[in-house]
Amino acid sequence: MPDIPAYQECININCQANFDLAQSLVACPKCGCLLDVQYEWDKVKLPKKLSDFSRRWATRENRLDFSGVWRFRELLDFCDDRFKVSQGEGQTLLQRCDGVAEYVGVDKGKLFLQYEGLNPSGSFKDNGMAAAFSHAAMVGARRVACASTGNTSASLARYASAAGMEAIVFVGSGRIAFGKLAQALDYGARTFQVAGDFDDCMARVKEATEALSLYLVNSVNPFRLEGQKTIMLRVLEGMNWEVPDWIVCPGGNLGNSSAFGKMWGELKALGLVKRVPRLAVINSTGAPTLDRLVNSPDTLLRYNGGRFDRAAICRDYQWQDDTNTKPHTIASAIEISKPVNIDKCLRALEICDGVVRAIPDGDIMNAKAQVGIHGLGCEPASAASVAGARLLAEERLISRDERVVCILTGHALKDPNATVGYHTGNYDADHRVEGERLFANMPTPVENDLDAIIKAIETS
Ligand code: F0G
Repeated sequence: MPDIPAYQECININCQANFDLAQSLVACPKCGCLLDVQYEWDKVKLPKKLSDFSRRWATRENRLDFSGVWRFRELLDFCDDRFKVSQGEGQTLLQRCDGVAEYVGVDKGKLFLQYEGLNPSGSFKDNGMAAAFSHAAMVGARRVACASTGNTSASLARYASAAGMEAIVFVGSGRIAFGKLAQALDYGARTFQVAGDFDDCMARVKEATEALSLYLVNSVNPFRLEGQKTIMLRVLEGMNWEVPDWIVCPGGNLGNSSAFGKMWGELKALGLVKRVPRLAVINSTGAPTLDRLVNSPDTLLRYNGGRFDRAAICRDYQWQDDTNTKPHTIASAIEISKPVNIDKCLRALEICDGVVRAIPDGDIMNAKAQVGIHGLGCEPASAASVAGARLLAEERLISRDERVVCILTGHALKDPNATVGYHTGNYDADHRVEGERLFANMPTPVENDLDAIIKAIETS
């Protein structure tokens, strides 16, 4: 790939091996660590200022200018235009939401929801797939695979069907929201329900990828995260190119937070922003690995310029195996306890002076109901961001006058069982949540009779 000023680089500061773009890798062949896509920025024709990107709204008939990912292509310049895949991803909204601001505990006008549920397959994953499938097309991949808690498989299935590639997805045998499973099946993915959870699927898909030379699009694929960087650019665009004070996002496999940190680091280094926001990554207390490693006094894990205690992560994962500790949360998208991107997420936390918190499912569901009433709605995992912002405001770490952006990662209709269970109290066994349902909106049973209906409307 002679003309493209980009390459892959191992993130391990003791290795930093380089690989060219033609290779399809999900770990460094020398040391096994994660890879980054890096750029020779002096060869990239960057805009003078970020607001120059806004000009592309005027040329939306060009499919690359229409894409909310490729509109920012100079900041992820790893691929010739002829390979670039787009399904119209990234037509998402940054919504100012005063109702949720009040719930979170910040001033009117300070709380914003970045609704990634508006993507073609209904989650933020499409940003990543646009980039990963472009690389897949560039290296001539035919069979594309992932492990998934649901959204990655839905997104992969959609992009594969559009690209004419074969889709192979591994989902756990436990909880997968039906909206997501329905999408994978409907878009024609070959779907394997592995007898295990997400972490098992992740381990198996990596092995299958190697054995069968599949193209893996989980977030260990460095190209995928390049697409997800653009969520931060659209947040900036929605804020008229002013940097917010906080970005709050749910943490599962930690791809999104890693991509956000990389984007802010690059923007700062390129002089395209003067400062970066703080980052808050929110686990569920039912899947709190990152929170445990970062916040428990025995580990207090920090990136430390790349010299971090890798052994602490291995010990934690081993302890999970030894004690048969399994994740369990209604936020099934983040029911992950061995996050594959933890190294990059620690780096993102360092770049953005980040914090990590874990939120109980009951609080996640109450926050979700608030997003439903006041915002655009979202799936449970997404609401962890709002619940997390509320906790940080209670702790006074977020102050009332700071501008907070919560990333709503998935569409409200992805997991209707969780939503109906919350509002009616009739949870199915998989979706039971402890705690008060503060904003439950119970349907009212009524006789099939106009007078009874009128009475019910006037009195209930
Ligand atoms: N929110 C939603 C709606 C998700 O689907 C996911 C991850 C996350 C948050 C967590 O993001 O992994 O980047 O920290 N879902 C993956 C999947 C794991 O398979 O669909 P992360």
